[in-house]
Amino acid sequence: MKKLIISVWAFIALPLFAQRDANIRIYLEQGNQQISKHIYGQFAEHLGSCIYGGLWVGPESDIPNTQGYRTDVLNALKKLQIPNLRWPGGCFADEYHWMDGIGPKENRPKMVNNNWGGTIEDNSFGTHEFLNLCELLGCEPYISGNVGSGTVEEMAKWVEYMTSEGDSPMANLRRKNGRDKAWKVKFFGVGNESWGCGGSMRPEYYSDLYRRYSTYCRNYDSNVLFKIASGASDYDYNWTETLMKQIGGRMDGISLHYYTVGDWNNKGSATDFNTEDYYWTLGKCLEIEDVVKKHIAIMDKYDPKKNIALMVDEWGTWWDVEPGTIPGHLFQQNTMRDAFVAALTLHVFHKYTDRVKMANIAQIVNVLQSMILTKGKDMVLTPTYHVFEMYKVHQDATFLPMDLICDKEKVRDNREVPVVSASASRDSQGKIHISLANVDPRQSENIHIDLQNVTIKSVNGRILTASSINDYNTFDSPEKVKPEVFKGAKVEKGKLSVSLPPMSIVVLEVL
Ligand code: AHR
Repeated sequence: MKKLIISVWAFIALPLFAQRDANIRIYLEQGNQQISKHIYGQFAEHLGSCIYGGLWVGPESDIPNTQGYRTDVLNALKKLQIPNLRWPGGCFADEYHWMDGIGPKENRPKMVNNNWGGTIEDNSFGTHEFLNLCELLGCEPYISGNVGSGTVEEMAKWVEYMTSEGDSPMANLRRKNGRDKAWKVKFFGVGNESWGCGGSMRPEYYSDLYRRYSTYCRNYDSNVLFKIASGASDYDYNWTETLMKQIGGRMDGISLHYYTVGDWNNKGSATDFNTEDYYWTLGKCLEIEDVVKKHIAIMDKYDPKKNIALMVDEWGTWWDVEPGTIPGHLFQQNTMRDAFVAALTLHVFHKYTDRVKMANIAQIVNVLQSMILTKGKDMVLTPTYHVFEMYKVHQDATFLPMDLICDKEKVRDNREVPVVSASASRDSQGKIHISLANVDPRQSENIHIDLQNVTIKSVNGRILTASSINDYNTFDSPEKVKPEVFKGAKVEKGKLSVSLPPMSIVVLEVL
């Protein structure tokens, strides 16, 4: 009878207290690649309230602002150490005519934003407003040029306007518009999604256009452009193959877009999902590793020395819009599930950093998997923001390879999701950072980390967790999900052991 009571108790208690084990071995001596900080890039499109209301309110606004930029958003973004910001799209880029967005605001023509809800765009945020924002944020601008509906001349003049120091017509126009010194613009995209919203082209035709347009994107004075071709979507390996063959070394980078989305016609709610949906999402998110590997294998064939970079310049979750918001504005909430998608995806990018030199999560404010949501004068930081803030320690640090052994969950569509994901790096001061994610919503994980010959002096960390995978921050409750001090790591006989609570993301600093 007693035995029966014990076993019934054990059965009931299992889901609450169960704990699993995982093992990690980190190979410090094999660290020879730098995690490009540009993997932590952001993306701002003229879409919904990303620019207007999100980043820019104008100097006359009641909302506190710094030269027109929202001060609260600006301060929050500064904490992320954003390395680069992509603009003006996305699909918007191939209908954008940059000359409409310079000069006195009252003279700037309006346009219809055909891609995103038919909203009227008044062009009050243009080249100066964007490049000055990059200066305030201390990040590199990444401009997407218009190949789909723009001319070669228009693109060539834009580059001249932004970067020429000399007595050139476009530099003089820039001066007339109030900016004497040229900006530095390194990253320049020659078109966006040229297979779709950027012109519905075939890869052979786009390759020729790339060659033509990019010829006239000149390096002025000391500015050296890093030219990026409009790359494939997801599994379109033929696109990558054709561009590698036809464009080759004329491009410095080729892009790739991968969104974590299931059915494009029924993407599902950002907040209302069950555990099965949750695991499916993580499976789909992790599939990016296979996709990246296959694109890299093609690139390796044509460019074995890895001179051309793979730039995943759009990635993230894409859910149904928040009920009551404009469908074309792509405003979605952001839960712990999104935080895991961010953490797991960043771990994959770290691993392939010898080829993946840039990534841009879509998008920075109020659109798709954003860092920040705004409503009027209110602002809220999303769980994804907190992952980017905690993970910034990996930027430009040396990637440390590891072995990880842990349990896996079987999920819908024959996918498997390892319950633990991890990545490690060593920064320029010798500090080791280990990011760990326990995706299991019910069970904690005991992680045994072998750092081999390292003598560990101290370990501390921060944790992002919640009471449910559906948890998110709202304007009424902005701090429901936020990082806290983590006390679950200890050193025993020279080995590091970490007790990761269910559904948690931890970043450790090991000295
Ligand atoms: O990020 C939203 C849109 O997704 C971009 O404008 C486009 O490039 C992609 O299809």
